[in-house]
Amino acid sequence: MSQKGSCTTSCASKWAFYAGILAVLYGLGSYLQSINSSFYRMSPEGLNDVFQHTIAGAKAAGQSNNATWLVENVIDGITDKYPDVRFRKDFTDASQWMFNNAGGAMGSMFIIHASVTEYLIIFGTGTGTEGHTGVHTADDYFHILKGQQLAYAPGALVAEEYNPGDVHHLPRGQVKQYSMPRESWALEYAQGWIPLMLPFGFADGLFSTLDLGTMYKTTFITARHMIGNLLAGKF
Ligand SMILES: *[C@@H]1O[C@H](CO)[C@@H](O)[C@H](O)[C@H]1NC(C)=O
Repeated sequence: MSQKGSCTTSCASKWAFYAGILAVLYGLGSYLQSINSSFYRMSPEGLNDVFQHTIAGAKAAGQSNNATWLVENVIDGITDKYPDVRFRKDFTDASQWMFNNAGGAMGSMFIIHASVTEYLIIFGTGTGTEGHTGVHTADDYFHILKGQQLAYAPGALVAEEYNPGDVHHLPRGQVKQYSMPRESWALEYAQGWIPLMLPFGFADGLFSTLDLGTMYKTTFITARHMIGNLLAGKF
């Protein structure tokens, strides 16, 4: 009886303590969320302008199936539009590309920009792939340059279909299954807390592929982008 009584007191204070911690974390989370957008240098609208211009240009030049042409022109357009942002343009250097295994899907990527609150990459697959989008703390905009992406959320009996010129916007927190057929390439832009996305990006490497070379390269190249941006005052 006395033991039960003492637990009532100590348990109540323990729960008050946990509730206090949760309130502080929630407050901190809301605050971090509110300041996150103040660090963005690019916007979904601005990137969509460049993207649409690239797709139209490819059509006019008869290069709609030329992935090299599409990637080259979209990166050139972005560099012109955002002269103050640090970008890497050397996508024809194969050593700057790396595999990405996440959520059961496999693709390759070239990082154009990565900072604490934004990233911009070319992502795609030569053979085709299928998997889980991941649960992200960032808003994701997937611009199809070539090929296609199919996606759906549980409950949908029909797939969403994204073709060249289409943008698949995946709001933070939402999850879908997706697939891409062979030779599908996209410009992917994410806004949010990018470092929180990295555990998903490494999960299949750590627990499935054990491809240490790829994990090292991903870490090295991502860190080079993020630190370079921080030193240039871009959070
Ligand atoms: C594809 O585009 C690249 C880059 O502009 C160009 O060098 C190449 O000749 C093009 N290929 C074809 C088949 O037109």
